Amino acid sequence: MNNFSKTILITGGAGFIGSHVVRLFVNKYPAYNIVNLDALTYAGNLENLKDIESAPNYVFEKGDITDEGRMQELFTKYVFEGVIHLAAESHVDRSILDPLQFVRTNVLGTVNLLNVARKSWNGQYEGKRFYHVSTDEVYGSLGEQGFFTEETPYDPRSPYSASKASSDHFVMAYHHTYHLPVVISNCSNNYGSHHFPEKLIPLMINNIKNQKPLPVYGKGENVRDWLWVDDHARAIDVIYHNGREGEKYNVGGFNEWKNIDLVHLLCAIMDKKLQREPGESARLITYVTDRPGHDLRYAIDATKLNRELGWKPSLQFEEGLEKTVDWYLSNEDWINHVTSGDYKNYYEALYDQR
Ligand code: NAD
Ligand code: TYD
Repeated sequence: MNNFSKTILITGGAGFIGSHVVRLFVNKYPAYNIVNLDALTYAGNLENLKDIESAPNYVFEKGDITDEGRMQELFTKYVFEGVIHLAAESHVDRSILDPLQFVRTNVLGTVNLLNVARKSWNGQYEGKRFYHVSTDEVYGSLGEQGFFTEETPYDPRSPYSASKASSDHFVMAYHHTYHLPVVISNCSNNYGSHHFPEKLIPLMINNIKNQKPLPVYGKGENVRDWLWVDDHARAIDVIYHNGREGEKYNVGGFNEWKNIDLVHLLCAIMDKKLQREPGESARLITYVTDRPGHDLRYAIDATKLNRELGWKPSLQFEEGLEKTVDWYLSNEDWINHVTSGDYKNYYEALYDQR
């Protein structure tokens, strides 16, 4: 049928990070056949992959990771050497409204995928790899000092992070019990193009543009460690190919920002881009009721990934933010499209509760 050297299943490839990973693999490895499996929930959008959709080494398959029959069908249709698993429910605020959906997708879906991979590979693990993409949020919340390392005990505190921690444990359990060749990475907050505008950075950009209130939770003092999404995709590439089996790797930007400082920086960038008076956009900042159980600080120590695999972030934050703002300002159609329908209903329900 084809002469591809290997076929890789990427789940969640129509989402924010997944679309960057799919694009990187399709462009960088013409000899790999990349199969993108996605349920196209509110967060999945095939427009994210328009530029590579007709590449000869790319295939899209619609499907739900919780659907055992559909997953078995795919593992029969293709001979997968590897799985890079990103499909998930990913927004903390949604997990607070509907924890069970996070258990279904993130826990049951991951275990279903592990089962199908294990059965299909049937102990023939030579050259195989199951790569689970996770988050730093599994480690819980830091005080003013310190960093998360790979040895930090798990202490998830939101339904989202609890579901991701649970899926990480299942991945490791399949390694220890069935010798499934796994690797896990835990990454800090990503930013960049195609980020669904319910998350902090794209939400703020969109609201600044439309002169709508900028809802800062609590006092805005919570700290996140921001990483350019393509740097995460590059980390996934090196970990997939060279990470040690059964290991975990932390991925982070060494780039901590208090939410309120970040929002001010975005306002300043956008004042310039939109030729507004300095300070005009910042007047939109509105402090709102805090997120329940809001983790204070995340900060990743990515030394292991740097030491073992030579990875480090490539882009300065200010430059990455400018690029991100430029992308959103010139992709109004994308925003209008993804913010219609389901998302709108959710958004209204969320803010009705405040
Ligand atoms: P996203 O919400 O933008 O995309 C998730 C994708 O998964 C969507 O395309 C959606 O359609 C798909 N999906 C959801 N449920 C599915 C199901 N049942 N079956 C098949 N597909 C399904 O998420 P993201 O921000 O791109 O995150 C991707 C992964 O990276 C997640 O596992 C997340 O936990 C992890 N992660 C995200 C960040 C971040 O800052 N966004 C940081 C670290 C780790
Ligand atoms: P978010 O982008 O939802 O990522 P996460 O909760 O996974 O870190 O939020 C990033 C930070 O921004 C987090 O501290 C919550 C805060 N935040 C706001 O202050 N206002 C908002 O409207 C949103 C969506 C988030």
